[in-house]
Formats: sequence, structure tokens, C-alpha cells
Amino acid sequence: MNLQGKVCIVTGATSGIGKETAKAIAAKGATVVLPIRDSLKGDILKDEILKQNPDAIIDLMHCNLASFDSIRNFVREFKIKYDKLHLLINNAGIWETKRNLSEDGVEMNFAVNHLAPFLLTNLLLDTLKDSSPARIVNVSSDAHRTGKINFADIELEKSFSSFKSYSQSKLANILFTKKLSQLLKGKGVTVNCLHPGVVSTGLFEKMPRLVTALMKPFMLTPAKGAETSIYLATSPEVEKTSGEYFAKKKPKKPAPEALRQDVANKLWDVSEKYVGL
Ligand SMILES: NC(=O)c1ccc[n+]([C@@H]2O[C@H](COP(=O)([O-])OP(=O)(O)OC[C@H]3O[C@@H](n4cnc5c(N)ncnc54)[C@H](OP(=O)(O)O)[C@@H]3O)[C@@H](O)[C@H]2O)c1
Repeated sequence: MNLQGKVCIVTGATSGIGKETAKAIAAKGATVVLPIRDSLKGDILKDEILKQNPDAIIDLMHCNLASFDSIRNFVREFKIKYDKLHLLINNAGIWETKRNLSEDGVEMNFAVNHLAPFLLTNLLLDTLKDSSPARIVNVSSDAHRTGKINFADIELEKSFSSFKSYSQSKLANILFTKKLSQLLKGKGVTVNCLHPGVVSTGLFEKMPRLVTALMKPFMLTPAKGAETSIYLATSPEVEKTSGEYFAKKKPKKPAPEALRQDVANKLWDVSEKYVGL
């Protein structure tokens, strides 16, 4: 699919799956807007993409996804520069092994992995609808299968574990996708989510070296890990598909918890309160 004239946002493009996704989207001719928190990393990334593809159109813009103000500023500036958005890929993610807090004082995995794409997407919905047909792609994980939304202690203040926190945030990505697809019915904007596979990226940086060394031989390359994101973002085969979870470019049944409408509704309400929508 040729993306010339299309405007796309890819979060988390400075490394791993996001970098390969951004390169592929740029290679298809799109204007690729990259929200980046570290300008030096952004410049290096832009040089790398332009070296491979001198015609790539890359626009680096500042955004720290661990700050609601920064996300709001990014969207404000984006809307000054662009009046269309055809593709939003919520790829950025972290796996904090300790209980850290975002700039807003929210537990970091929940803040960056769920609340950030929740706020970013909601602030961009009007532009996406005006640009119809448009697509949203949310990068989740099969780690959601062990997750549960702990409404009584969603920031895990009482019993933090990095697995509990990460898998909760990735379950939230699917519940968000399902609920958003219902709200977007008939609006010309699709939203799907995916598991990229187990991929050798910076995500596991904070894990014990031995764990990552043992996992390494079984991990996919970032280019392979980006394939399902690129498929959902560009393939005509999924033009009309919305609200689904994918792996290896095929729909996959998520955990029963990810299909619970009551949980999706409650999470939406809780998230709105957090981000002030
Ligand atoms: N790798 C896997 O096996 C795997 C499996 C399942 C799902 N996933 C999901 O895949 C997605 C991509 O992860 P990855 O594996 O490619 O990890 P990665 O290499 O660590 O990349 C993460 C990206 O997110 C960005 N990011 C993190 N915190 C940010 C913040 N506060 N503001 C702005 N950007 C921020 C990072 O930017 P900086 O360079 O500035 O840190 C980086 O570009 C994540 O959603 C992850 O949960 C990965």
C-alpha cells in the first residue's frame, strides 16, 4: 500500500520494534511524525532512516509519554502543523522492574503503556475521523494472558510485581482497543492491537542479564517483530477489520479477561479520570 500524502504517527521509534515500523512506513512514502523524548536519540534515528532512504519524510517532535502535559503539548503542536492524521501506531512501551512513578505521580508501567496511548489517541480522534479512512494500531503483548485489571489497587501500591504491572498494562491495551472500536463504529477509523512476538529489543534492558541471555536465542529480530504492526497499519486485507487482537499477521483469541465488556467500560472511566478527559 502506497502511503504518499498520508500522515502517520509512530511512538517509540528510537529503538526496537518502533524503529523498524517507522522505517517501513517511511519507505511507503508517508510523512512520519515521531514523538521523541530524547532529541539526541531522535537525531541519530532520523540520520539512520535518511541514510537508508533519502526520500523519507521524518518529522521529530518532542513528547515524553510519562507526562500528560507533554502529551497534550505534543498534540497541540501536531495540530498546528498538520490537519490530517491517517495512521496512529501506539508502539512505545516499557517494562519497569521497580515501582517507579511518572511525572504525574502514576505507576510508570500503567502510565506509559496504557494511560499515554489512551490520552494521545483520544486527543487525536477528531483529526483521525476527519482523515477517514484512518487506522490506529496498538502494540500489546501475549503477556496480557497473565494480567488482571486490579481496580482496587490499579497502581499496585500494596503489592507491586513487575510481571503483574506489565501484564496489567498490556491487558489494558486490548480492553482499550475493544472499547474504542465500539465507539468508532461507522466513523471510518479502525483500531486493532497485536502481539509482536518475543523480540530482541531494549524492553528487557532492566531484567537480570542471565534471563535475557537465556531468552536471546529464541527471540525474533526487531524487523520480524515489526511485521504485524506494519501489516495492520498498511494491508488492504484488514481495511475493514476493527477491534481485533493479532499475532503473526492473523487474528488471535485473547485471554477471556480481555473480552469482558464490564472491565473495558470500567477501565475507560478510570482512565478518563486519570488523564483528565
Ligand atoms: N520486545 C518484545 O519481546 C515485546 C513483546 C511483546 C510486546 N512488546 C511491546 O512492543 C512495544 C515496543 O517495545 P520494544 O520491544 O521495541 O522496546 P524498546 O526497544 O525498549 O523500545 C521502546 C520505545 O518506547 C520509547 N519510550 C519509552 N518510554 C517513553 C516515554 N516516556 N516517552 C517517549 N517514548 C518512550 C523508547 O524511547 P527511548 O529510546 O527514549 O527510551 C523506545 O523508543 C512495547 O509496547 C512493548 O510492550 C514487545
